[in-house]
Amino acid sequence: MWSPESWKSKPARQQVVYPDQDKLNAVVDELGTLPPLVTSWEIVALRALLAEASQGHRFVLQGGDCAERFADCQPPKIANQLKILLQMSLVLVQGSQRPVIRVGRFAGQYAKPRSEDFEERGGERLLSYRGDLVNRSPFTAADRQPDPQRLLRAYERSALTLNFCRALVKGGFADLHHPEYWDLGFARQSPLEDEYQEMVAEISRALRFMENVLGVRAGETDRIDFYTSHEALHLPYEQAQTKQVPHRSGWFNLGVHFPWIGVRTALPDEAHVEYCRGIENPVGIKAGPATTREQLLALIERLNPRNEPGKLAVIHRLGRRQSESVLPRLIEWAREAGANLLWICDPMHGNTRLTSDGIKTRNFDDILGELELAFTIHAGMRSYLGGVHIELTGENVTECVGGARGLSEADLKRAYVSEVDPRLNYEQALEIALCIARKMRATPAGPTPASP
Ligand code: PEP
Ligand code: CO
Repeated sequence: MWSPESWKSKPARQQVVYPDQDKLNAVVDELGTLPPLVTSWEIVALRALLAEASQGHRFVLQGGDCAERFADCQPPKIANQLKILLQMSLVLVQGSQRPVIRVGRFAGQYAKPRSEDFEERGGERLLSYRGDLVNRSPFTAADRQPDPQRLLRAYERSALTLNFCRALVKGGFADLHHPEYWDLGFARQSPLEDEYQEMVAEISRALRFMENVLGVRAGETDRIDFYTSHEALHLPYEQAQTKQVPHRSGWFNLGVHFPWIGVRTALPDEAHVEYCRGIENPVGIKAGPATTREQLLALIERLNPRNEPGKLAVIHRLGRRQSESVLPRLIEWAREAGANLLWICDPMHGNTRLTSDGIKTRNFDDILGELELAFTIHAGMRSYLGGVHIELTGENVTECVGGARGLSEADLKRAYVSEVDPRLNYEQALEIALCIARKMRATPAGPTPASP
């Protein structure tokens, strides 16, 4: 029998051991009394949009930080994140000739899975940093101590972030008639500026033409929605805002629109899947090279037993080198089961490597290579790649190498900010969008058939 707490009866990986369980319980109770971040009708609306994306009628752009940080909950940083997502989405609208659904990895992406519970430096051994939701990153025993109060701080910052995003969008920030509102000043010198501006001009011309000919303002052009997503990792935090609402059946996680289960916790018989199987939100599952047929089919069965389109997304993160051997079999297994799935490509997490100096980075060409392969493989199997999932920032950081400006390993020392995984910077993110748009124009992809 499912309940918001039934995950507790299953093995749970990547969970935090708090020194005082009563303090954690008190925080979880308090979180449950606070107003929700999102509403059930937004969740239901997103599910309908994702269903259309799975059938090839829309395209999903999911992006943001690997790990949000409390210190970055600042107006210019949030606005820049919205700006880059808007710019990318405009480019993708043009490339895909489909409406784009914008999903931020923000307003709650504060918890991180770690491959090691402990970190060792110079003979000292401390708990790993697990994201600002749990502890702090400096390497001291006090900073690494998990503190349940941080769950409240994270929830509040998620609310502040989302409130600011909603206010900007409502105020016309995202109006397609005014793309200059979301120009990123420092990007003027970018090698990509001309290509981007040409695309914007083309869209503005098309918009004016339509409005002049039809005599109406085109729908959805002056109010663009953003949805939120984060990894549903910290189960007491997710459980706290899991509610029933008047006039609708089922349970909703009202702290996020679109949670996903990370590759380390996507085990059908374990706690994260148990929690996610009971909520009405659309759910993503990360799939990697190690995902087996039994695992994928069991995940599909548990997480979407009624096989509803728009309910379940598989976010494949295979790495450029493994895509050709692994992606076809994932598509084939899902097809054999007749599963209605939304396919999203995460070209980041299979392409992480360490430089000779031990810095985590990703190469632009590997990221683009995996994306292009994903489009080609899906199209070749008459499947449809319905979205992309990218770690990026609107800031001018140097964390990934390559791209039009040819960032090298030496550049990584200049502006490496991420606490966890390397993100595409503003220019690299826009360039990826331009490349995806080109690829989509060249890859006519038919909608996924509903049944095998
Ligand atoms: C992530 O999305 O930041 C992440 C940890 O991904 P994965 O679970 O795919 O490794
Ligand atoms: Co990451």
